[in-house]
Amino acid sequence: MRVIEHPTEMQLFSNNIRQTHQSIGFVPTMGYLHQGHISLLDAARQQSDQVVLSIFVNPTQFSPGEDLSVYPKDLPKDLDIAEKAGVDIVFTPTDKDLYGDHYQTYVQLKQLPNYLCGIHRPTHFQGVATVVTKLFNMVKPHVAFFGEKDYQQLAVIRQMVQDLNFDITIIGCPIVRESDGLAMSSRNVYLSKEQRQTALILSQSLYRSQQKVTKGITDAETLINEAKKDIESLPETRIDYVRICNKDTLEDLPEVMMDGLMALAVHVGRTRLIDNRILTREYCTVKA
Ligand code: PAF
Repeated sequence: MRVIEHPTEMQLFSNNIRQTHQSIGFVPTMGYLHQGHISLLDAARQQSDQVVLSIFVNPTQFSPGEDLSVYPKDLPKDLDIAEKAGVDIVFTPTDKDLYGDHYQTYVQLKQLPNYLCGIHRPTHFQGVATVVTKLFNMVKPHVAFFGEKDYQQLAVIRQMVQDLNFDITIIGCPIVRESDGLAMSSRNVYLSKEQRQTALILSQSLYRSQQKVTKGITDAETLINEAKKDIESLPETRIDYVRICNKDTLEDLPEVMMDGLMALAVHVGRTRLIDNRILTREYCTVKA
């Protein structure tokens, strides 16, 4: 496994791989790797000849007051995990490499960032779209892998790839959960034992909502209010949003007709967690 820090070296390396007609699978991350990232690397390993993992805590997707300065880091452990997952190249650019002194270009989507997390983190998706564009231009992948936990991020990237004609296939990979349901996240490390217990309410609310839909309760307001009540009943919780929306446009839905994305963002103590699930009426018994 090779570690490359400089963008020009990364580009040269990718050009060489492409010249040998090998495919490049790319997993962009901010490091502090967990099982969720490993599932992306596994998918990349299966679907490409060369696997590139990037580790870069991107400053432009954090707003002042967010957790940029304390974002967890452990490069030696990440390199170890990457090696075991069969990564070929780890790309670790620096802030200076990516955003030099005179940096002035950003990628901005018009519609998709106006919902869900984008309301609470207004500059976040501009930062994500910008850094992913830059990474794509450096790594030059054929296929790139993103987790469905960051559902809106995946939607933004798919749209951006389509709008800007990137010749890259985007693959979304399912959320990986702890055995008790908590969605894996690098930020889970911030949680105390009690807060971690409280954090289970995110996946539980989604699960309970699906059960209600299966029973025929499909009104979005009812489902959302009941989930909010459950979450707010627990200590140290503060809801950013609980929403049921169209899984493609992210616009609010009044009712779960066929299906709908239920997405939530909740602060547990000082840690902001997100989770989501597609609610479906597929399993409803139709009364004659
Ligand atoms: O999902 C992440 O870890 C980040 O948002 C990403 C895609 C690596 C961009 O910084």
